[in-house]
Parts: sequence; C-alpha cells; structure tokens
Amino acid sequence: MLKLMPIYGTRPEAIKMAPIIKAIQASPDFDCVVTVTGQHREMLDQVNELFGIAPDHDLNIIAPRQTLNSIMAKTVTGLDALFEAGAPDAVIVQGDTTTSTAAAIAAFYRGIPVVHVEAGLRSGDLFSPFPEEGNRKISSHISSLHLASTSVSKANLLRENINPEDIVLTGNTVIDALLETVDKNVPFQDRALQDLAETGKEILLVTTHRRENQGNTMDGIGRALARIADAYPDLTIVLPVHKNPAVREAVLPAITGKPNVIITEPLGYGAFTRLLSLAHIVLTDSRGVQEQAPSLGKPVLVMRNNTERPEAVSAGTVKLIGTDESVIVTEVATLLDDAAAYSAMANAVNPYGDGHAAARCLAAIAQLLNVGSRLPDFNDN
Ligand code: UD1
Repeated sequence: MLKLMPIYGTRPEAIKMAPIIKAIQASPDFDCVVTVTGQHREMLDQVNELFGIAPDHDLNIIAPRQTLNSIMAKTVTGLDALFEAGAPDAVIVQGDTTTSTAAAIAAFYRGIPVVHVEAGLRSGDLFSPFPEEGNRKISSHISSLHLASTSVSKANLLRENINPEDIVLTGNTVIDALLETVDKNVPFQDRALQDLAETGKEILLVTTHRRENQGNTMDGIGRALARIADAYPDLTIVLPVHKNPAVREAVLPAITGKPNVIITEPLGYGAFTRLLSLAHIVLTDSRGVQEQAPSLGKPVLVMRNNTERPEAVSAGTVKLIGTDESVIVTEVATLLDDAAAYSAMANAVNPYGDGHAAARCLAAIAQLLNVGSRLPDFNDN
C-alpha cells in the first residue's frame, strides 16, 4: 500500500490537515503515517484530540521562546531520521509555518514528492507576514503538487511559473473542518464563557499573535481594547490569548481586571468555533479566523496592513484596518454604533470552500501517485 505522510506542527495546520487525514484513513489505497513536529504543544494536541487523530510520530521539538532557526534545524534533522527508516511515497504539508517549510525541504532533499495544501497564498510583501510569505514561496518551488484553495491562489502560482498541470483548485479544508465542528455546539469549559453564552450579550471576539505585530504594535492593540471596554460597558470583549509569552506580555497589561473583558487560555477548536458563532464582531490578525468567520456571517476587522485573503475583503465581510490604536477603536465603534455599517458587513459568504476540499485533495494525490484521477475543481466564481 502507498504510504502518505502528513506532517504538521501548529494548531492551524492541525485543523486544516484533519479532514485530509480522515479522508486518507478512510481510503483503502493508502497508509497514513501522521507525523507532528510539536512546534506547538497544548494548542496542537487539543485539535488532534477533537478530531480523534493519534500521531504515529511526534518530534516534540517545542522549546520556550524557540527561534525560527531552531524549529527549522530540529524539524529537518528529526524528519531525516524518519525518512531514513522508511521513506513515504509522498509527504503532505500545509500552509506556511516553519514546520511546513522545514518538512518540505527535508522531503525534497530525500527525493520524496511534496504535496502542498493551501498553496499559492501571497501578500506580496516578503516581510509581512514574516516569515510566512517567505516560507510559502520556498514551499511552492519545491512541491510536486499544489492544492490551491481559491482561483486567486492558483493565479498567484501561475504568475510564478508553476506548471498549471501540477495545480488543483480544491477549496479550503478549513471549511470542511468548520462545517463538521460548528453543529456540535461544544460546551465551554471556561465558566465565564458559559455564563456569557447564557446572557446573550454582544461579544467582541479578539485574537492576536502575528510576529510582525509583537512589541509596540501589540501594546497598542492592548490599549485599544481597554478604550473599547471603557467606552462600551455593555459589550463583552473575549480574548483567548495565545501561549506565546511575547503576546501575553504585550497585550494583557492594559486589559487585565476590566469587568467586561474575559481573558481565556487558547480554546479548543470546538469551543472557539462556538464562540465565533456567538460573536457580534471579530477583531483579529489571524488568517484562519478570516477564512471561517465569513462563512458564519460575522464582520471581521483585520489588524494587518495586507492580507493573502482578498476574497472575503472583496465580498465585504472582511475589512483591513491596520494596527493603529485609534483606528482600531474607531472601526469597532463604527460597527457598534452604525447599524447600516454593521449589516453591510454581516453577510454569510463562502469564498473559501464548499466542505468537499479534502476529497479533492486526496483524489489529486491519487493521480500524482498513479492510482486514481482528480475530481472536478472547486468552483469559486
Ligand atoms: C506559529 C506560526 C504561524 C501560525 C501560528 C498559529 C511560524 C513561523 N509561525 O506562530 O504561522 O499562524 O503558529 O498559532 O511557524 N507556545 C506554547 N505552547 C503552544 C504553542 C506555543 O508554549 O502550544 C509558546 C512557545 O513558548 C513558543 C511560542 O509560543 O516558543 C511561539 O510559538 P511559535 O510556534 O514559535 O510561533 P507562533 O507565534 O505560535
């Protein structure tokens, strides 16, 4: 049987890889050897547990305040030993984390075909998001099969002279995962969130973690949240805060102890999805949140100056607002005070997927390995 090795290390990769792993496990043609690097620990394990995935290999590389180079070095070395012991027929990597690019490089150097899921995202700025824009460009140029979520991503790859025969338009597996999870109505472990869900109060859901926002910019995000909390006492701000200590040191001081701010540990994917479905407005610098919130009809304000996700911006549900403290306050206030501005953004749109992306990914992999043929492309027009 052909051996496929999905390799991932962080929470967002785990969410997007889960539907593909499920599809491989259900197929009679393939063995699935799930390999995690452990770039994240708790945040990764939570997602694997929710989807019932037990990794076959775990490099457990995480270290406090790890550097990009240490992630790269440990991943390449650890995977090389696994490949030496028994090379898979293909590896599958997702997105643009340092785990995914390290895994792509390790496989490429061993002559193992690389399948790149969610290929072709580009912001156009090598340093934002950093290092992800560089990571994904490297991965694109050493992959054998490019699974693009949208036609914008496919066009980006064509512009870089990737062979059109090697690109398949699949839709984003995050929508497969979302549709499977949102109906579960997962209970909140956090008492404050459970109480909040019962009151039905308006929620501003906030997430922030991007490396290029860490430091002064993130201090400003903390101050903006404090100003919003003071100006709107009936609003509840919920911030599931990333495990990265650099994030916590920047954003927490201004808001800790405010009566209408709830700060939680990172939520499991199920609980996060439920919170997203309850939110009135979403304020974020995350990409996965930008992809999922539009499917639930939630206005998303993005604290970045660019996005590799222009589709939902065009659809009107996502707005790029940058990271200036006062602008953040003003943009949130506009959505809270102006019903017309709010309803203009609160449309449910699905530019990223139809829930069948994983099946298209697996069929394309089968064709790559000469044991099947591709399904019709995802149509995002
Ligand atoms: C990484 C990815 C980013 C992705 C993000 C999702 C890179 C370069 N960045 O950034 O693309 O959007 O994950 O969250 O690959 N930590 C823990 N426990 C955890 C997770 C993190 O303690 O479960 C701490 C560690 O101290 C670690 C720090 O957080 O050193 C930062 O983690 P790291 O993976 O280096 O970067 P992220 O900011 O999570």
